[in-house]
Amino acid sequence: MCLIRAVGVAIVGPGTVGVAASRILLERAGALRTRTGVAVELKAVVGRSRSRAIERGIPDRLFTTDLDAVLARDDVQIVVELVGGLDTAGAIVERALGAGKHVVTANKALLAERGAALFAQARAAGLSIAFEASCGGGIPIVRALIDGLAGDEFEALYGILNGTSNYILTQMIQRSESYERALSDAQAQGLAEADPTLDVGGMDSAHKLMILAALAFGTTLSIERIAVSGIDRLDRLDVDFGMRLGYVIKPLAVVCRTDGGVTAWVGPAFVARDHPLAWVNGPFNAISVYGTTTGHSLYYGRGAGGGPTAGAVVADIVSLARGSYQTISRSVAFWPDRNVPSRPVDHTAIRTRFYLRILVQDRPGVLANLGAVLAEHSVSIASLLQTEQAEGGVELVPVVITTHVCSEVQLRDALQQIDALSITGASSVIVPIVDEHPEAPV
Ligand code: HSE
Repeated sequence: MCLIRAVGVAIVGPGTVGVAASRILLERAGALRTRTGVAVELKAVVGRSRSRAIERGIPDRLFTTDLDAVLARDDVQIVVELVGGLDTAGAIVERALGAGKHVVTANKALLAERGAALFAQARAAGLSIAFEASCGGGIPIVRALIDGLAGDEFEALYGILNGTSNYILTQMIQRSESYERALSDAQAQGLAEADPTLDVGGMDSAHKLMILAALAFGTTLSIERIAVSGIDRLDRLDVDFGMRLGYVIKPLAVVCRTDGGVTAWVGPAFVARDHPLAWVNGPFNAISVYGTTTGHSLYYGRGAGGGPTAGAVVADIVSLARGSYQTISRSVAFWPDRNVPSRPVDHTAIRTRFYLRILVQDRPGVLANLGAVLAEHSVSIASLLQTEQAEGGVELVPVVITTHVCSEVQLRDALQQIDALSITGASSVIVPIVDEHPEAPV
C-alpha cells in the first residue's frame, strides 16, 4: 500500500514564483499525490495586496494579509517564504520557525548572509529549512551535492548561476541587442530580481556560490572573501574581440579547493567555444562539478523564472512531507550552521590565462614597451591582435593580448605600470580566460 502523507502549506509572497507554486499545488495536487505519495494542500497565501493576488490567479478564499493567523493554524506544517530580500523575509522565517513550522525558501541572499543563524534556530527547534530553489532554479543541484554525489570529495564547481546575466550576454552576442534592451526583456520574463543590480552586478551569483560552497566544501565563505564583478561593467568591444579570438563570454561563478582552503570568484569570463559551459545560453544555468569519484558531472536547466523555481519549491515540500529532508538536514555534516569559516586565501593569487585590452598610441616602439613591462612581471604573451586603422586616424587604438597562465596579482601590477605610460590611454581591461578544469583520475 502506498504511504500517503498529508501536509498543509502556506505560501508567503504571491510574486512570480509564489503564484507559479500555488498553481502547481492547486491544479496538480492529484498528480502530485499519485506520483509522490504525498497529499499537499495549499491552505493559505499571504501577501500585501488582495486585489493584485487575485488578479494573478490566487483564489480569494486562500488569500490573507494576516501571517500571525496563518502561523497559528495547526493544519499548516510548512511555510514557504518567497518574499525575497533580507529583513522582512528573515523575520518571516524566524516567526515561522518560532511557530513550529518547517520552512521552504528560494531566498539565496537571506541564506548566504544569515543562513547560519536561521539553520541553528531551525535545528534547535527540530525543524528544517529546505532551499533547493535558492540555487539554479529548477536544477536539483542542492540534492546532487548532498545526496547524489555523497561518494565524492569536491575539487571545483564552475557555475553559470544567474539566468538574467546569461540571458543578457546571449542576446548581446546572438541578436546584437543592446545591454539595456536585453535587461528589460529579462525583467519582462520574470527572470530578474526585484533589484536587478543584484543580477547584473554579480551579487546574486555570489550568494548562490556561497550556498553551494558550503554544501560542497563544508566551509562558510564570507562575501568579502569572494572577488565579485558583474556584467554591468563589460564593454561590448571586449565581447566582440573575444569572439574573434574563439571565445564566448559567460557570467561565471567559480569555487575551487586550493592548498590553503577554497578560493571563489564571480565575474564575466571567456571560455573557448568547445568548453562545456560555452553552449549554456539564454536564461539557462549550469553547474560543472568536479569530484574525486565521479569526475566531471554537469547539471543544466532553467535557473530562473516562475515555473522552474516553483518546481524546486514543490520538490522541497514533498521531501519535507515524506520526512526525508529532515533526515538529511540532521545527518549531513556540511550544512550552513555546522560549517567552519574558510581560511583566508588571497584570490589575486588565482592563476589562469587572461585577455587584456590596452589602448595605445599607434606609433613605433609601443608594442616593445608593452612587451617589456609584461616580461618584467613574468607575464608571457600567447597572442596579440591589433586591427589596422586609417593612416592618421584615431589617436588611440586597442591592442588585445591573451596571456599564458599567470597570477592575477602579477598581471595587475604590470597593468598598473602600463596604464601609467605616456603611450597608453584609459585603464586597461582584464577578463579571465577559463579553461576546462582538469578531471581527477577516476
Ligand atoms: N534573478 C535570478 C537569475 C533568478 O536571474 O538567475 C533567481 O535566482
